[in-house]
Amino acid sequence: MDDAIRSHSRGPGVLMEGLPRLVTARLVLRAFVPADAAEMQRLAGDPAVAEDTLPPHPCADGVGATWIAGRRAAHDRGEETSFAIERAHDGAFIGAIGLVFEPRPGCARLDYWLGRPYWGRGYASEAAAAVVAHGFETLGLERIWAPRFRANEASGRVLEKVGLTHEGSRRQFAPECGRTDCVEQHGCLRWEYFARVAHCGRAGGESHAPREAKT
Ligand SMILES: CC(C)(COP(=O)(O)OP(=O)(O)OC[C@H]1O[C@@H](n2cnc3c(N)ncnc32)[C@H](O)[C@@H]1OP(=O)(O)O)[C@@H](O)C(=O)NCCC(=O)NCCS
Repeated sequence: MDDAIRSHSRGPGVLMEGLPRLVTARLVLRAFVPADAAEMQRLAGDPAVAEDTLPPHPCADGVGATWIAGRRAAHDRGEETSFAIERAHDGAFIGAIGLVFEPRPGCARLDYWLGRPYWGRGYASEAAAAVVAHGFETLGLERIWAPRFRANEASGRVLEKVGLTHEGSRRQFAPECGRTDCVEQHGCLRWEYFARVAHCGRAGGESHAPREAKT
């Protein structure tokens, strides 16, 4: 197995040395900081955000800080790499995105959510394009996939725009929200990603800036 892939599946590896800072046309994807907690709690506490994803809900006091600490701990254990999404022009914390590594080497699940005031501006697509590029180009992943509830057509469109093809449907019970629903699965293989880049260029026009040290 390729060392780059091994180090980004479970277990210690280069990821633990510091989270990269991904810069796109309008966004900065960066490490979470404690100051994000209050806004995270406010944005993720919106039932419209919680309905289609599984952030902590309802967001009682302290949940934002706990959630952020959980992301950083999971990162340190090599289980995921998660970014705060910051809007470049005003520094606003607008949401979160990340790759959760699977026990199967080289495979990761893409997760994301944005606060409702920031929907409909292309931000999720821009952030997802950067993270997918990071996953394949820097982390050396072989497969990135994402589930979405069937009714979440905006998320389906985001995934389609960043090259995650619809692969199928399954019925699933989500114990976190006590909900049985149809889940649509999307995915992209490494060769598909590079074929797409060769043919169409990168989605989102992201550029990669130097790593920032973890705080
Ligand atoms: C899903 C979510 C991330 C989308 O964020 P966003 O920044 O609004 O997404 P974008 O603006 O980048 O793209 C949305 C796309 O979906 C389209 N869209 C929006 N609502 C739609 C709908 N009801 N049906 C079909 N397409 C829809 C938009 O037109 C856009 O496509 P386009 O660029 O081709 O016009 C955001 O709504 C969210 O965080 N929701 C709550 C949490 C969540 O669902 N997370 C994902 C879990 S899988």
